[in-house]
Amino acid sequence: MKDRTEEHRDRLDAHVFVCTNDRDGEYASCGAVGAEETVTAVKDWLRERDAFWTAVSVSETSCLGLCSEGGTAISIQPRNTWYSDVTPETVPDLLESEFGPDADRVRDEG
Ligand code: FES
Repeated sequence: MKDRTEEHRDRLDAHVFVCTNDRDGEYASCGAVGAEETVTAVKDWLRERDAFWTAVSVSETSCLGLCSEGGTAISIQPRNTWYSDVTPETVPDLLESEFGPDADRVRDEG
């Protein structure tokens, strides 16, 4: 086992977890309401600001316990912020509120 905590802390400011869980059944799930498009919107927004995987990482995840029919659930760690009902159209506002319009509220590399 390698402890890579310090290495990762030095490099990354935040990690965006996007639920892409798609379950069969009667309950809403993010995968059924556009999660894949929302992940793409998150990555594109960060890429356009040179923040994707330089300062902010993105991972698809299973259920975050915020299921809804209105959109996708997102959690940003270690900021401990949680959103539901996120759509590709609302991704820019969400990420701007977290990271600033130009992603200038993320830690600089190094
Ligand atoms: S299925 Fe996405 S939060 Fe539950």
